[in-house]
Amino acid sequence: MTIKMPRRKFVAGLAGLGVALPWLRRPAGASTAPGPLNRPLVVTSKTNAFVREAVTTAAWEELMRGGSALDAAIKGTNVSELDPRDASVGYGGDPNEEGFLQLDASVMNGPDGKAGAVAALENIKTPSIVARLVMERTDHLMLVGKGALKFAKMHGLKEEDLLTDTAREHWRDWKENLSDRDYYMPPVDKDKPEGGGTINVLVLDATGDIAGCTSTVGHRFKIVGRVGDSPIIGAGLYVDNAVGAAGATGQGEESIKTCASFLVVEKMREGMTPRDACRYVCQRVVDRHNGRPMFSLKVVALNKRGEYGSAAVRGRADKATGKTIGLDFGVHDARGHRMEAGVALLPPLTEAELKTIPWR
Ligand code: GLY
Repeated sequence: MTIKMPRRKFVAGLAGLGVALPWLRRPAGASTAPGPLNRPLVVTSKTNAFVREAVTTAAWEELMRGGSALDAAIKGTNVSELDPRDASVGYGGDPNEEGFLQLDASVMNGPDGKAGAVAALENIKTPSIVARLVMERTDHLMLVGKGALKFAKMHGLKEEDLLTDTAREHWRDWKENLSDRDYYMPPVDKDKPEGGGTINVLVLDATGDIAGCTSTVGHRFKIVGRVGDSPIIGAGLYVDNAVGAAGATGQGEESIKTCASFLVVEKMREGMTPRDACRYVCQRVVDRHNGRPMFSLKVVALNKRGEYGSAAVRGRADKATGKTIGLDFGVHDARGHRMEAGVALLPPLTEAELKTIPWR
């Protein structure tokens, strides 16, 4: 059955007001229905305290205005891309090793199965919007570097300097502390900024349509030209309208090698809950590294019923409290915004272990 926009708007609006929607529920006693449907639903990997609630709220409000799941996923992502306090995504993110930003992003739309992506895009604050334009206005899936920038400008996006003073200082401190055999004289060893990681926004609308968006600066201080998993469909993001969606953050190279998001969705297709599917993929990564991966990878997922979950290879130790952080993930449904706990397979790396990793 094709559900036309007015009905969708009506349903989404009612759900937002907390009105019970009996026609969205499975018949009582249906064997595959462990509980009522939880639609609409927004899930994000984002943990950065400045933006995490604003991300899910922006996506939710877009749904309430009658926007599609894809509109909502991008609206939520834009909050993180445009906030200079978020060191991991978009404008104000930490730059590459030469001090400028190259951004990666992807979008995937469940109803038509289409996807778009950009990689190593410079000088555009919202790479997710360019990824959508690639999906909707070309027959390609991914544009990179100069071509992506030209394409963005062709569609009216403004070229801007993305490097804020704070991000420039992060880069300068990193460069000064790289070695004691160069001419730089760092004053102090400063704490590394907490960006809250790459953003995934996954959205299930009131009618069961699903979409997702992923956006990132990639690794801070990465080699110029490095592309991670975020723009790779199946790695940093995957959506199947019949099943669910998944997104990955963390060590992008491992996400690519595992086809992390695709694998999560396939495991949900086989019947796993989102959380178990995420855990399965993280375990696969741990096993590939003989039980001792020296990095983390986190995956978040939702299914068509509105269930959600997340798992990570490991979290990070908070320096002040010693507590494990970085495992939580944001959810917004009819109950509002909240952070939910994800699971970790391994404890955080110790300070001594972190010192053995060249890019730390
Ligand atoms: N997961 C983000 C990256 O590796 O680029």
